[in-house]
Amino acid sequence: MADIDKIKEIVDRIHDTQNITKEELEILLSLNEEDAEYLTTKAREVRESVYGKDVYIRGLIEFTNYCKNDCLYCGIRRSNKNADRYRLSLEDIMNCCETGYELGFRTFVLQGGEDAYYNEDRVCEVVKTIRDKYPDCAITLSIGEWPKESYEKFYKAGANRYLLRHETADSCHYAKLHPEEMSFDNRIQCLKDLKEIGFQVGCGFMVGSPYQSVDTLFKDLQWIKELQPHMVGIGPFISQQDTPFAGKESGTLEMTLRLLSIIRLIHPRVLLPSTTALGTIHPLGREKGILAGGNVVMPNLSPTSVRKKYALYDNKICTGDEAAECRYCLQERMESIGYHVVTDRGDSKL
Ligand code: SAM
Ligand code: FES
Repeated sequence: MADIDKIKEIVDRIHDTQNITKEELEILLSLNEEDAEYLTTKAREVRESVYGKDVYIRGLIEFTNYCKNDCLYCGIRRSNKNADRYRLSLEDIMNCCETGYELGFRTFVLQGGEDAYYNEDRVCEVVKTIRDKYPDCAITLSIGEWPKESYEKFYKAGANRYLLRHETADSCHYAKLHPEEMSFDNRIQCLKDLKEIGFQVGCGFMVGSPYQSVDTLFKDLQWIKELQPHMVGIGPFISQQDTPFAGKESGTLEMTLRLLSIIRLIHPRVLLPSTTALGTIHPLGREKGILAGGNVVMPNLSPTSVRKKYALYDNKICTGDEAAECRYCLQERMESIGYHVVTDRGDSKL
């Protein structure tokens, strides 16, 4: 049984200082839903003081599942011979944007593996074509690690935001999640480059990834404080059957909610998605994520014909739904908890 007064004292201190110690983190992560109520409420208050009851929506377009990388946790890693590979053409992507625009999306997120076909020129072509047709929309890229010069070209072509989860801020932990040829230092450098260029930047990590500990999570929070990103994407790790981490335990709902709330308290103005992975481990995961301090949801705009193939983890939800179904399903879910989806770019208030 946790001492409620002690928890309140800790939460108030984190709220007032926007800082957390490792000991405090350990205590908060071990709380059950009931004991964490004060933390959840405080995070929700902070979220509402910045963003009100608004929930921003992003139209997610998973445009390729080819990848040259071999991240141990990821279902579309190059070594997964069972992955059914696909890539969308420029025309397919523009069709997704057209549907999305009609549904009220003003942010398109282009996410994919590191696919050799989508080289610098082709990515720029996609970005420019979207930018010309939808000057009022934000374009987010989430396509991994590139040289700074490429990021500069993407920015000049019209991309505004970039999501690159750092995955873990502990280099030893990073080495356990990735093959030897991938470099922790490069990932961190990419985030610094993106910020310097002027992108609104998102970092993030999986909750409950293999070998994660309070120590590594504390480093993640310190890194967030240092980078001051506009967005932080966190969601539970969920194992995928064709990866080396098949059968490893998934991250939990409780731990993800606790971390969403803590991130809201230490970095109050951040954009914080309540992710599909959270909705996958619990039927009300995305609602709970919003109530714990999240303020973004990312309905899927990819054509239904490819949805199942972007299988980062097992049992992913929403793989059979049309874009409009996903959009209105999430709208209803948000309304059911007293929040409302807004149709605008949803820029960070950092
Ligand atoms: N290639 C880009 C990159 O590396 O940033 C974007 C695509 S990658 C699939 C997007 C994110 O999916 C990763 O940053 C990772 O955190 C998440 N992811 C991959 N496998 C996952 C799994 N098994 N469970 C939960 N999230 C996963
Ligand atoms: Fe490249 Fe996952 S290994 S997207």
